[in-house]
Amino acid sequence: VNAPRRVTVTHAAGHYEVSIGAGLVADLPAIAAAALPGRRLVVITDRNVARLVEQPLKVPVLVVPAGESAKTRRRWADLTDQLLDLGLGRDGALVAFGGGVVGDLTGFVAATYLRGIPFLQVPTSLLAMVDASVGGKTGVNTHHGKNLVGAFHPPAAVVADPAVLTTLGRTHLRGGLIEAVKHGLVADADYYDWIDDQSGALRARDPEAVTTLVERSVRIKAEVVGADEREGGRRAILNAGHTVGHALESASGYRLPHGEAVAAGLVVETVVAEALELAPEGQAADLIRRLRRLGWSGTLPTDDDALLAAMRRDKKVRADAIRMALPRAPGGLAAEPAEWTTATPDEIVRQSLGSARRLLGG
Ligand SMILES: NC(=O)c1ccc[n+]([C@@H]2O[C@H](COP(=O)([O-])OP(=O)(O)OC[C@H]3O[C@@H](n4cnc5c(N)ncnc54)[C@H](O)[C@@H]3O)[C@@H](O)[C@H]2O)c1
Ligand SMILES: [Zn+2]
Repeated sequence: VNAPRRVTVTHAAGHYEVSIGAGLVADLPAIAAAALPGRRLVVITDRNVARLVEQPLKVPVLVVPAGESAKTRRRWADLTDQLLDLGLGRDGALVAFGGGVVGDLTGFVAATYLRGIPFLQVPTSLLAMVDASVGGKTGVNTHHGKNLVGAFHPPAAVVADPAVLTTLGRTHLRGGLIEAVKHGLVADADYYDWIDDQSGALRARDPEAVTTLVERSVRIKAEVVGADEREGGRRAILNAGHTVGHALESASGYRLPHGEAVAAGLVVETVVAEALELAPEGQAADLIRRLRRLGWSGTLPTDDDALLAAMRRDKKVRADAIRMALPRAPGGLAAEPAEWTTATPDEIVRQSLGSARRLLGG
């Protein structure tokens, strides 16, 4: 076994380590004892992960249903009741063992239980490893929308073991790869090209390639978020592809998976950036070829009115204008543009949806 890679994440109240390495989950008892000395632990996981991924901690395990529908205040209430029934006190700590849903839900329980206890995050999906395990955001959904009730509560430590990804569904794997493409596109041209070189190994879940991917993405997200924890400015670059992506998700009634929507969103927003002469011509076509090599076969739906209406509901809308964190030349959004988001006229959005649809074919 190689030594784990480590990335330090700093936040307003301190810092924590993300350890990345194939086989690390087997060391959880020692890692948890070192990160949370003397604490009584309770593991929270979901049904899929409980069935498919071996978990070596000999402590109580609370299991929630799998999927986004578990991220509710009702589950939060059930979990806090179960912890009270177990008699977990202020010397307790939680272990979030699962994807981003388990991470956000467990983090929110940890943030609020007895006014806050620590938690260890063990992301088991690629998205949770490259994205959700950095930044300290926790929370649940309401019927008004996603993540509307929550708290900033960074974990005590994060343990990412690429070996557990063997059982992850292919679309979920690709969702994590697409967020990593976004990291390269906005912040690191060399990483953007590395992902493309490694697309075969990454699709095959080669542990060495995935370990490097997680390390590089976590470094980028940690660097961006460390400089702007509460989303005043620079953190907005991580929203690239997401103005259009969220609109696609919402217009599909959330049937389109997040990663698939973000891939299409990155394509459309790159076309917009070309139209506004912020990105070089041909970049969108090149991005599509890269996404195809990662196995993405998506196209764009045709209801542009519905998409524009959904974009108007985006949090970044200002003075009635749709705003996007537009990709520049690869890596270029990290380099201090005057504004992190750009007002995008409706006409340009409509034209760009049409051009992107032609580029995507189908
Ligand atoms: N806090 C943040 O900063 C942040 C960032 C990005 C996303 N998120 C949140 O993360 C969530 C999405 O995360 P996700 O994509 O991991 O979703 P998820 O937790 O629902 O996991 C996806 C699916 O994969 C299954 N799974 C997870 N690990 C597995 C494994 N090793 N083997 C087999 N199956 C496995 C899960 O049971 C689930 O069915 C969303 O709720 C989103 O809002 C949070
Ligand atoms: Zn995303």
